[in-house]
Amino acid sequence: MLSTPPPFPPQLETARLILRPPQPGDGQAINDAVRETFAALTQWMPWAKTMPTVDDTENFARDGWSRYHAQEDYPLLLYDKETGIFVGASGLHPHDWRVPKFEIGYWIRASREGQGLVTEAVNEITRFAFEAQGAQRLIIRCDSRNVRSAAVAERAGYVLEARLHNDLRDNTGALRDTLQYVRFPD
Ligand SMILES: CC(C)(COP(=O)(O)OP(=O)(O)OC[C@H]1O[C@@H](n2cnc3c(N)ncnc32)[C@H](O)[C@@H]1OP(=O)(O)O)[C@@H](O)C(=O)NCCC(=O)NCCS
Repeated sequence: MLSTPPPFPPQLETARLILRPPQPGDGQAINDAVRETFAALTQWMPWAKTMPTVDDTENFARDGWSRYHAQEDYPLLLYDKETGIFVGASGLHPHDWRVPKFEIGYWIRASREGQGLVTEAVNEITRFAFEAQGAQRLIIRCDSRNVRSAAVAERAGYVLEARLHNDLRDNTGALRDTLQYVRFPD
């Protein structure tokens, strides 16, 4: 059991991506990508009920920066290594440090969907969680109708653990089932 969490590194890296925590000043670039992707985000992400303002997104970035430095959470922004352009967001979200167990979330901007970037990021975050954070349990949850998200979990080696019936209401108010995927240390 971990008494204190191991330090979070300043960034993670994959073949095509830099994964780093949000920081003050990121709001505009993230907001541009949210606007580009809003139709998909509002369909699947509870936080995307309405299109946020740039100030809302800047507050999200600042809040993420604080939580990262307090080691309460590990939100991650994904940047194309070659161009430096913001392409999406993910994160390793602690649920219980005594286990330790975490949840991984993700979205990718519409213009970069279908290139394997999310699976690439999730593979690296999964490796980091097991090797550097001592994770004993990692979960990915998605709306049961979100086949693209379920495919990411499956490509990254997660297995379906449960279908949570009538788990949440989506942004239209309709009840949704949630698929819960899990991975354990090898
Ligand atoms: C869910 C979501 C993140 C999936 O993104 P994605 O781009 O499809 O996922 P990946 O990065 O794993 O890409 C997989 C696709 O890239 C293709 N691909 C291309 N190069 C690849 C590579 N090097 N490695 C893996 N896949 C590659 C795969 O064949 C697959 O193609 P397909 O769409 O024809 O099946 C995205 O649809 C999204 O952001 N949706 C809105 C928000 C959302 O639903 N988030 C999840 C909430 S739980």
